[in-house]
Amino acid sequence: MSVEIVRTVAGIRARVAAWRAEGARVAVIPTMGALHDGHLSLVREGLARADRAIVTLFVNPRQFNSAADLAAYPRTEEDDARKLAVFGDGLVLFAPDGDEMYPPGFATGVTVSGVSEGLCGAGRPGHFDGVATVVSKLLLIAGADVALFGEKDFQQLQVVRRMATDLNLPTEIVGCPTVREEDGLALSSRNVRLSAEDRLRSAALPRALLAAARRLEAGAPLAETLAEAEDAILAAGFARVEYLELRAEAGLAPLAVPDRPARLLAAAWMGEVRLIDNVPVAPARAQAGLAAG
Ligand code: PAF
Repeated sequence: MSVEIVRTVAGIRARVAAWRAEGARVAVIPTMGALHDGHLSLVREGLARADRAIVTLFVNPRQFNSAADLAAYPRTEEDDARKLAVFGDGLVLFAPDGDEMYPPGFATGVTVSGVSEGLCGAGRPGHFDGVATVVSKLLLIAGADVALFGEKDFQQLQVVRRMATDLNLPTEIVGCPTVREEDGLALSSRNVRLSAEDRLRSAALPRALLAAARRLEAGAPLAETLAEAEDAILAAGFARVEYLELRAEAGLAPLAVPDRPARLLAAAWMGEVRLIDNVPVAPARAQAGLAAG
C-alpha cells in the first residue's frame, strides 16, 4: 500500500471537502520532507487528535537565506512516501511544486514581529517571514482543525502561534516534544549531513544545554553558566556557537534569571551544518521561593 500524493491546491481542497462531508476532523503536519521519527511522532499525534491527516512536503525557498543551504537540503520524497504508507488511507501527502505555492506574480508576505526577532531571526534574516508566509498558506489551503509542530524549532512554534492568533486562523496550533536519539541529539533533517564523527560529537550540544539548565534551576549565575556551556560545546568540536540564550517560554523575552518557565536555546555549527536545540528551564528554586514567599 502506498500513500496518496496530491500536488495541487484544488486537489487537496477537494480531498478535505470529502472528508468534511463524512464528518471527519482533519490534522495537518507541515514539513519540508526528509521525514524522521520526530515528524512521524507529529503524524501519530495528529491522528490521535483527528480522523484524517495531511502531511505537507514543500522545501520552501523563501525561508532559506543561503542558496547553498537550499541546494543542500535533503530531498527524499519516495522514501518519505514509504514512511507515511504505514498510516493507511486516512492520510494524504500534499507535495506541491514551487509554482503551485508561489505562482508567477505572487507578491504577498507575512511578517511576525517580536517573537521572530533575535535567536534564529538574527542569524537568518528573512527566515521567519518565509516560514510565516508558507505556514499561513498551508494552513489556509488545508483548512484543518489542528496543526502540529515540533518544539525543536521552538522559536518557529512561537512565530506560528502568534501568526495564527493575529490572523484569526481557525486551526489549533499544537506543539509536540522534541524527539531525541539515544545520546540526546535532537532529530533533525539536517543530521544526515553530519559525518559519522561529527554526528557523535554533536550530542555535546544537548548535554551542555541540559547541564546548564540544571545549574540555572539551582540558582547559578547566568553569564558564568552560559560561558561554561559554550566552552563545553566548543571543546566537543563545534566550530561556532551562534547563540546561546535564556528566554521566557511565553513570548521569548530575554531573561537574566529563570523566574518563570523558560527555555535555554542554542544554535551551533558543526562544520558546515547548523544545529539548533532547546531545553526547558524551570523557575530557579530561589526565585520560586521568592515568588511563593
Ligand atoms: O519546520 C519546518 O520543517 C518548516 O519550517 C515548515 C514549518 C514546514 C515551514 O516550511
